[in-house]
Amino acid sequence: MAALDSRGKVLEVRALPLQHFLLRIRVAGMEPAAPGQFVMVAGANQVEPYLRRAFSVYDQEPAGTGALTISLLGKVIGRGTAALAACLPGQDVPVLGPLGRGFHSMGANGPRGGRAAVVAGGIGSAGLGLLAQALAREGRPFDFYYGGRSADDLVEAEEFQRLSERSGGRLLRTTEDGTAGARGLVTEALAATLEAGAAQAGSAYEALYTCGPHGLMAAVARIAVEHGIEGEAAMETPMGCGYGACLGCAVELEEGGYALCCRQGPVFNLREVAW
Ligand SMILES: Cc1cc2nc3c(=O)[nH]c(=O)nc-3n(C[C@H](O)[C@H](O)[C@H](O)COP(=O)(O)OP(=O)(O)OC[C@H]3O[C@@H](n4cnc5c(N)ncnc54)[C@H](O)[C@@H]3O)c2cc1C
Ligand code: FES
Repeated sequence: MAALDSRGKVLEVRALPLQHFLLRIRVAGMEPAAPGQFVMVAGANQVEPYLRRAFSVYDQEPAGTGALTISLLGKVIGRGTAALAACLPGQDVPVLGPLGRGFHSMGANGPRGGRAAVVAGGIGSAGLGLLAQALAREGRPFDFYYGGRSADDLVEAEEFQRLSERSGGRLLRTTEDGTAGARGLVTEALAATLEAGAAQAGSAYEALYTCGPHGLMAAVARIAVEHGIEGEAAMETPMGCGYGACLGCAVELEEGGYALCCRQGPVFNLREVAW
């Protein structure tokens, strides 16, 4: 799938709670992204910061005559994300993508029959949007575990509820302050389900997919090993170029050595990464 460096037209910028935002951009000539792929994007007329920022393609739809409308779900944490949140409809923004390798165990390689758990921490849910759509479309049941500090961190929860229920699964929310779902960590909820399943002689899940803070993904990787389940993580290692030129996105591997997150990832097998 070839990446295209193009200028996209901002169609909509939707402000969401806690400095989250949803940005819809029409990009002429861009090929659809596979679940887990990303784009490098910057705000309109942006000089500072110089480098574009990496964003997962959260949603996409054909926009006629070879164009694609992509949706990016983001959270303002610094200057690059603030410039994106400040975009206005009608402005042009640079978009390079789709980039990287997405979830490898989709399509013919995906789990057969067994249930999957998709585990998101906060805005990490953006990296799981196309995956949840694909699982629902293919009729592969999954439970979506969505964790945050408080209710406002669980953006687009209704959409993940709709997709998981369509697949035959459900949404499980956790918050550290107890303002939505169960109080606690999302990995505690996942571990509890697996332990209950193991007590009934069988794992509750055939595959685990995750995206979120590093510590959360590391905990999911430990749980996967403990319960003998395969899984993948979409890493969010800070990136300079997005296509292998700056060598700034190294991910340490369990077998020794490093991989470039932008080229060999951002999706890695949970057992591949030296967490
Ligand atoms: C493949 C990929 C996909 C991504 N998809 C999304 C997405 O869909 N939505 C989204 O909101 N974000 C996503 N991110 C993260 C996003 O790229 C960063 O939030 C962004 O680069 C921060 O830029 P900034 O200029 O706003 O902040 P900066 O000024 O660059 O950084 C502000 C502070 O945040 C820290 N920081 C920067 N990047 C990260 C990071 N990735 N994780 C933890 N801390 C960080 C910095 O060290 C600094 O302390 C993705 C990252 C990758 C690599
Ligand atoms: S971001 Fe430049 S090599 Fe990966």
